[in-house]
Amino acid sequence: MPPPPLSPLLLTLSVGLAAASSPGLVLLLADDLGYGDPGCFGHPSSRTPNLDRLAAEGRRFSDFYSAASVCSPSRAALLTGRYPTRSGVFPGVFYPGSRGGLPLNETTIAELLRQQGYVTAMVGKWHLGYGSNGSYLPIHQGFDEFLGVPYSHDQGPCQNLTCFPPDTKCYGKCDQGVVLLPLVKNNKVIQQPVDFPTLTPLYDRFARDFILGAAKQHKPFFFYYASHHTHYPQFASADFTGQSKRGPVGDALMEFDGSVGVIMKALKDAGVENNTLVFFTSDNGPELMRRSRGGNAGLLKCGKGTTYEGGMREPAVAYWPGKITPGVTHELASTLDILPTIATLSGAKLPPVKLDGYDMRDVLFNNGKSKRETMFYYPVTPSRKLGVFAVRYGQYKAHYFTQGSTHSDSTPDRDCHWDSLLTSHNPPLLFDLEADPSENYPLSSSDISNYSWIIKQIHEEKVKFESGMEFGESQIERGIDPALEPCINLGCSPRPVCCRQT
Ligand SMILES: *[C@@H]1O[C@H](CO)[C@@H](O)[C@H](O)[C@H]1NC(C)=O
Ligand SMILES: *[C@@H]1O[C@H](CO)[C@@H](O)[C@H](O)[C@H]1NC(C)=O
Ligand SMILES: *[C@@H]1O[C@H](CO)[C@@H](O)[C@H](O)[C@H]1NC(C)=O
Ligand SMILES: *[C@@H]1O[C@H](CO)[C@@H](O)[C@H](O)[C@H]1NC(C)=O
Repeated sequence: MPPPPLSPLLLTLSVGLAAASSPGLVLLLADDLGYGDPGCFGHPSSRTPNLDRLAAEGRRFSDFYSAASVCSPSRAALLTGRYPTRSGVFPGVFYPGSRGGLPLNETTIAELLRQQGYVTAMVGKWHLGYGSNGSYLPIHQGFDEFLGVPYSHDQGPCQNLTCFPPDTKCYGKCDQGVVLLPLVKNNKVIQQPVDFPTLTPLYDRFARDFILGAAKQHKPFFFYYASHHTHYPQFASADFTGQSKRGPVGDALMEFDGSVGVIMKALKDAGVENNTLVFFTSDNGPELMRRSRGGNAGLLKCGKGTTYEGGMREPAVAYWPGKITPGVTHELASTLDILPTIATLSGAKLPPVKLDGYDMRDVLFNNGKSKRETMFYYPVTPSRKLGVFAVRYGQYKAHYFTQGSTHSDSTPDRDCHWDSLLTSHNPPLLFDLEADPSENYPLSSSDISNYSWIIKQIHEEKVKFESGMEFGESQIERGIDPALEPCINLGCSPRPVCCRQT
């Protein structure tokens, strides 16, 4: 039997008296990594020994969801426990010169934990806005320290960068007409362009120093490691180049896995492994348009940019030796549930806003039932008019609308492609995800009357959810001002070309 979780009362008392006994939290987020990519989720040629160990000794989730099928909204949901429609992080994603960002009045996990005396740091991809003078950076959202790139690493011209292997040019062009990709320390650009072959080793050193430093100060800590892997264009440092059996995407994944190993060793060396919850997942499904250089959704349908399972069901693992017994859970859970769970574990008060997550301690510690019964799937461009495109309720999923996406082009399944235009379904396309996780065989087409009860039930859940959904003002529609793009040479001209380290 695992020891029972500490009661919230005990934890509340311990804060301030012996803050270091509050559990640490390490959040490992991969980028565009699919359900079928890690070895522990069945990929035959990926090499992910560290993730595989976490899965073997921790709890692996079979039915874990992100709240969006692209980066910015998915990350907003992870850090706030709220659907991104509420915070206004839609439609699509932020650009280097975006005026908007995750609103500063949203409460992030980092802010919640900092109030509890935690030290907090983030490494890697932010993608929740840069704004005027970096006013939307992580250091304004509860993180004491930040080292990383404020957006996706394809959001800058790639032709002058080195990528993979370390002495070759990046594959593809990425975004043109914007500044070279910046590396930011707290709120200062320290490198432009980013040097990919040395980037992950830099992150790894930061991670180790932060964890050992927090332990030395006897402070509880939150470390958010948002890797760039395995997003396009794939890169890896010398240690991982050519080391996987899977080509560029396999090497990128292997480098991510290597960072997991570095972080786990730091926790052990700091003596805090048994008092730290380590949670691994991915932001959204694989970008199938990159063909074999993209990720893999395994047996799930389509990938990034879609509301099929491959777009939003993610690999996920929770690890905490002595607290979480090894095994697999088939319970429904989501990135939305992390904030409420860590709030209880740390004794923090929930923010006074409408949250969309559930405390998942029962699933983590007692192999129990999830409080979550539903998952709602918004498209990349959500609207009040169309509402959610799909609803999962228990084992069933109903699609009210389906649509392909450029991100999922080039799979043999035409439903995933960009030219599979918006289609409404009335009655909804219904799938039993337990019998048919690949969404191959809609139930409603065979005999609708047998399933009318479940369609009715799902409809009621949908109406209830949507009547409580208040859309925030769109942060992405605030538009772009190229003058806001991060630049290492303040006040230089002409932009964007002058924004290069000399
Ligand atoms: C943040 O401020 C905006 C603008 O005043 C408001 O509409 C929104 O509801 C606020 N959000 C939160 C979470 O307080
Ligand atoms: C950005 O910060 C610099 C230096 O602090 C200041 O001179 C400049 O006016 C600021 N720009 C904006 C748009 O706030
Ligand atoms: C951590 O927990 C594991 C499993 O319960 C145990 O074997 C190990 O001795 C513990 N390590 C420390 C440093 O307490
Ligand atoms: C629908 O229900 C009827 C009566 O219970 C049953 O005979 C039939 O096989 C069912 N059809 C399907 C597709 O399950």
